Amino acid sequence: MIVTALLSLLSLAWASPTLNPHAQPIVLPEKSSFKTRPLPDAPALPQNWAGRLNIPGTPEGNSLFFWLFPTEDKAYDDNLIIWLNGGPGCSSIVGAFLENGPLKFSGNSTTPERNPYSWTKLGHVLYIDQPVGTGFASEKVPVSSNKQVISDLYKWLVDFDTVFEHILRTKNVHIVGESYAGIYVPYIANEIMNRKDELPVNLKSISIGDGTIGTNTGMSSLGIVGFIEEHASKLKIPQDIMQALSFGDHACGFDTVRQQAKVYPPKGPFYIPAGPKRLNTARPEVVLRREVEASLETCNIHPDTPEKIKLSIFNSTCYGQCAVYDTTADYLNTRKCFSVYNINYDCNTHNPTPALETYFSRADVQAALNLMRPMDKLTPFKSCNRDILATLMAPANRPIPPSYNIIPDLLTTHKLPVHIYQGRLDLLINHVGVEITIQNMTWNGAQGFQQSLHFEFDRQKDAKPVGLWNEERGLSYHLFLEGGHLLPADLPKEVFRYVKNVILKN
Ligand SMILES: *[C@@H]1O[C@H](CO)[C@@H](O)[C@H](O)[C@H]1NC(C)=O
Ligand SMILES: *[C@@H]1O[C@H](CO)[C@@H](O)[C@H](O)[C@H]1NC(C)=O
Ligand SMILES: *[C@@H]1O[C@H](CO)[C@@H](O)[C@H](O)[C@H]1NC(C)=O
Repeated sequence: MIVTALLSLLSLAWASPTLNPHAQPIVLPEKSSFKTRPLPDAPALPQNWAGRLNIPGTPEGNSLFFWLFPTEDKAYDDNLIIWLNGGPGCSSIVGAFLENGPLKFSGNSTTPERNPYSWTKLGHVLYIDQPVGTGFASEKVPVSSNKQVISDLYKWLVDFDTVFEHILRTKNVHIVGESYAGIYVPYIANEIMNRKDELPVNLKSISIGDGTIGTNTGMSSLGIVGFIEEHASKLKIPQDIMQALSFGDHACGFDTVRQQAKVYPPKGPFYIPAGPKRLNTARPEVVLRREVEASLETCNIHPDTPEKIKLSIFNSTCYGQCAVYDTTADYLNTRKCFSVYNINYDCNTHNPTPALETYFSRADVQAALNLMRPMDKLTPFKSCNRDILATLMAPANRPIPPSYNIIPDLLTTHKLPVHIYQGRLDLLINHVGVEITIQNMTWNGAQGFQQSLHFEFDRQKDAKPVGLWNEERGLSYHLFLEGGHLLPADLPKEVFRYVKNVILKN
């Protein structure tokens, strides 16, 4: 550490002769200062490391929080899995303690228990709370764009690698992320691949689960009616409601794109027809009801009749045109206990998030994670930060170019294996939209998969398939039939096997 500190001091002095004379020299903390103490009221774990580490080159107080668990199986010592939750603005502690970490809140329990399907059996696992202001990551200057998110995360990884004995250079690194991390993961991978001379991360693969890889419309409205039709009997949607949704879907031209995406190999790019030009021709078909619109307070008009459905699709003042997705979600939410995360969830489905938040708001828990140092104060733990979501989801702050342009480049230029997985019961990010997005991408010399998906079994003798999958030219796609948005929470065993295959293969 003395050497490290000295080196960074020296390079600083040499690189920037006009440095602000009042700036403090940057001294990285010792690895040992991140040792955690045993978590209160929880089973013991092998030594792990956690805490806040500042983002270099940004104001003091802008830090990311991390939690690094060592592998529990020496045979997998060569691997480092980096996990990122989405939101944007949701803590990776959600992933660690509700999805795939060594400890998990199961059932009603108010304290964490051992998770038999922990990914720490497949490698060292690093959970990162990012961007600043997410979970335990502190915030001095709020994040303003995806560009800044990625620049902060990259700089931070450089320091993390220094503190943790070059773990990113020496292990086989696999980055896995969920939901909005469908943007973070390809972007950070792209940054890593383009800046290998600064930090030669040994990046072996990326995986994206239920991720936002496509356009807004492509991820939502384009697929949603296909999704609803697929699950019609389970969702028990009355015929007149279904007809109204299908009417809107057809008028907006979304059904045509779904048909195009079912042709293997695809015959060229799919264009989203809901642009203002095409929509104008669709508009006159629509039954308009002024009186309802006049009473709109928010976007959600609780559309529970065919008339309201059409109004919400075509004439929402805040959703914009062809709001098939939002209308469908609003309609389903008029039912009690409907969950966009998994259409099988109901009133009896236990939500472990309050227990998680209560536990991580405890002073003794935060102290165990090195978060109660003299300058720190106890702050309640929130699994998601709504301000970050509002900022990063604002149209002006969306990533340019979007993920679906970055992924083909990772595959084609950088030859990085990309794995996309998805829960079929997830309505929030529906699989139909994900599949359309994949079929619309061009990588390694061709557009989309050339062959349709096929059934996948966990073991040869299994009668029931666990999912549908395909893999071509470096890209794999796995659709898990029985899981939703938080796939490792819904199907811990199946997703563990999947991640094991990803790690063994790459
Ligand atoms: C939750 O607690 C209740 C009452 O203590 C119990 O009846 C129920 O079985 C528990 N549910 C789970 C999933 O553990
Ligand atoms: C398909 O790709 C084209 C060209 O990149 C793009 O303009 C279009 O919006 C994409 N369509 C979908 C459904 O994502
Ligand atoms: C629907 O939108 C159009 C165009 O913005 C507008 O002219 C019309 O009055 C709206 N209809 C209702 C019922 O508000």
